[in-house]
Amino acid sequence: MTQDPHPDIEKVLISADDIDEMIARLAKQITEDYRDKDLLLVGVLKGAFVFMADLARGIDLPIEFDFMAVSSYGSATKSSGVVRIMKDLDYEITGRHVLLIEDIIDSGLTINYLLRYLEARQPASLEICSLFWKKGEQAVPMEVKYPGFEIPPVFIVGYGLDYAEKYRNLPYIGVLKPSAYGAEPPPE
Ligand code: IMP
Ligand code: MG
Repeated sequence: MTQDPHPDIEKVLISADDIDEMIARLAKQITEDYRDKDLLLVGVLKGAFVFMADLARGIDLPIEFDFMAVSSYGSATKSSGVVRIMKDLDYEITGRHVLLIEDIIDSGLTINYLLRYLEARQPASLEICSLFWKKGEQAVPMEVKYPGFEIPPVFIVGYGLDYAEKYRNLPYIGVLKPSAYGAEPPPE
C-alpha cells in the first residue's frame, strides 16, 4: 500500500520498509547478545515508544519492560542539557542487564544524563540502542552499542519523533516543510 506523505512533509528521508529492515537487524543482534541474560528494556518516553514496540517484537527472548520519561527540550528544538525526569523507573535495576532504548541521539546530553543516573544504581550492564543519531552533533563522546541510522543534522519527524507533539504517528521519517513550523523559525 502506498500512501502520499502527510501534506506538511517536504520529503521522506527514511521509508517505513527501511526502518523495518534496520529494526530486524538490531533485534537479531540483541537476541544473540543477551541469549542467557535477563534483559530489561528501558524506553525513554515519549519518542521511543514506537521504536520500542517494534524492536521488542523482534527480540526472541523473555524480556521485561520499564520506562522513563524525560524532558530536555521545553518548547525549543535544541537540547538544553538540562534534563528533567518526569517519570522514574518502576523497578530496581541493581544487578540487572539494562538496555536503554532511545529514538534519537542529537547532542547526546539526554542519554548521557540518563546513563550517569542509571549507572549509580549499579546494573549488571548498561547499553544503548538508538534508532537514529545525528552525525557530528554529539557534544560528548558516546558509545552506542546498537546504533541504527546515521542521519544528517536536520530536524526530523515521524516514527515516534515529534515537532510540538505532532507527527509521532507517521510510519516513516520525514523532514517538515518550512510552513509547518508556523511563526517559529525552522530548527537547525
Ligand atoms: P539530545 O539530548 O540533544 O541528544 O536530544 C535528544 C532528544 O531530543 C531526543 O530524545 C528527541 O526527543 C529530541 N530530538 C533530537 N533531535 C530531534 C529531531 O530531529 N526530531 C525530533 N526530536 C528530536
Ligand atoms: Mg521531542
